[in-house]
Amino acid sequence: MLISKKLNTGLNDQVGHELFASHQYVAIATYFEQAALLTLAKHYYAQGLEERDHAMRLVKLILDSDGDLKIPAVPAPKMGFKSSLEAVQLALTSELRVTAQINALQDQAIADKDHLSRNALEWFVNEQREEVTSASTLVQMVKRAGESGMFFVEQFLKGGGLAEADGGEGGEGAA
Ligand code: FEO
Repeated sequence: MLISKKLNTGLNDQVGHELFASHQYVAIATYFEQAALLTLAKHYYAQGLEERDHAMRLVKLILDSDGDLKIPAVPAPKMGFKSSLEAVQLALTSELRVTAQINALQDQAIADKDHLSRNALEWFVNEQREEVTSASTLVQMVKRAGESGMFFVEQFLKGGGLAEADGGEGGEGAA
């Protein structure tokens, strides 16, 4: 086995965290779909697929490291929101939590002098920078626009505003 038992356990847990994040994004997307804010819905459905992809990357890392894969149970996501702001704020809170989780995994890989895992986790560290920036930008946009101005947030997204905010890697096209 190329990874420590401790890191193996952390990676298994993270598979669950990423799947949970995926389900939470789907729940946020459905909120916006029901509110007829379809560009926001599309954005969050795409985020949901990204999180699933993150889980699969971790699965591959565990298997490639000859680790012991145990996919944990995933709690139910929060469904339904009082406002657009509450929904986008939850996305930001969730990304900040995942960033802390990824940092803890990276700390463990460094403590283990495990360069294989450290290198693989570097991708997640960079991905979190992009996702936190996008989520934070959306919170600011929704705060500025207010509930009655959500049309403008939709136009911002349609116009690729997030791609500019996160340095050209995000936005609807790159999802
Ligand atoms: Fe996979 Fe957005 O954390």
